Amino acid sequence: MRGITGGVVVLPAFALMVTGSGCSLPTAPPPGASAKVDWASVAQGGLLYDKWWKVVEGASEPKGNHPLWASQSTNKAAGSATWRCKECHGWDYKGKDGAYGKGSRRYTGFPGVWDGARKKSVAELTAFLASSGNPTHNAFTGLRATDIADLANFLKYGLVDMTTYVDYATKTPVGGNAARGKPPYDTLCAACHGADGKKLNFGDAKKPEYVGTVAKDNPQEFIHKTWVGQPGSEPPMPSALESGWSIQQVVDVLAHVQTLPVK
Ligand code: HEC
Ligand code: HEC
Repeated sequence: MRGITGGVVVLPAFALMVTGSGCSLPTAPPPGASAKVDWASVAQGGLLYDKWWKVVEGASEPKGNHPLWASQSTNKAAGSATWRCKECHGWDYKGKDGAYGKGSRRYTGFPGVWDGARKKSVAELTAFLASSGNPTHNAFTGLRATDIADLANFLKYGLVDMTTYVDYATKTPVGGNAARGKPPYDTLCAACHGADGKKLNFGDAKKPEYVGTVAKDNPQEFIHKTWVGQPGSEPPMPSALESGWSIQQVVDVLAHVQTLPVK
């Protein structure tokens, strides 16, 4: 039960066989979970949390700053970045109380969503995010009711307790085992990222950024993206959550990927 608010960490192993396409659901609920948790919706909510306009049909990249942005002056980002849930609430969902706390160049002073997500029901989270809930906060143009439902599901069932799995000071996984993480990486990730992680370069030739770079620089971001996927990526990156992985497997893969080249 550790790691996800209100959900469970382990999905049935056979989910591996029925997913892969990234859009089918485990055919049976994981033991102990509510039969009604829609894991595809949870993962979709995680993609929205990362960069919603990449995955909302018909939405366009926002121009200008989010209306709440002017109420802080410490984070110097501007434009569409200020509209990402993660920019204000963090990859660890803990806002000013997490990795984006005082001393981070991304500090805003804004709160996280962690506590609210634990306390509130899916219905209450949905009501908060509906345009009538808090119009200044919810100025997101193009988010449909289905997207809000996905976000609420993600907040309730998809959040990973990063402080349990990452040592923030050393940016290393807690309880991750690189040897255990290599086989799942080679099976699910290497096809696109390469066995050495250098097949996809998110940076450029001068300043390369590989999956190994992200794992070292920002393990919380690595865990979030591996758990739910990469918004708008081509080819679409599978979600570990939907593929039936446990958080432990993600953390083991993080440990392995931290051994891969960063340049
Ligand atoms: C520009 C910064 C900013 C962005 C972007 C942003 N939020 Fe927030 N969020 C805040 C602030 C500030 C609060 C607290 C004030 C309030 O409740 O209105 C908040 C509150 C919340 C809460 C209530 C938390 C609680 O304790 O009940 C939720 C849920 C939430 N945000 C989810 C989201 C989601 C999902 C997104 C992306 C679609 C998002 N936020 C994007 C700044 C932001
Ligand atoms: C089907 C292909 C595919 C598979 C399989 C895949 N990825 Fe990805 N991944 C991508 C693409 C495409 C991107 C985005 C590249 C870009 O934005 O330039 C990406 C991006 C990422 C990023 C984010 C980089 C960033 O800074 O934005 C991480 C982290 C990542 N992948 C980890 C993994 C891990 C771990 C696995 C295995 C569990 C995996 N990926 C499996 C295609 C894939």
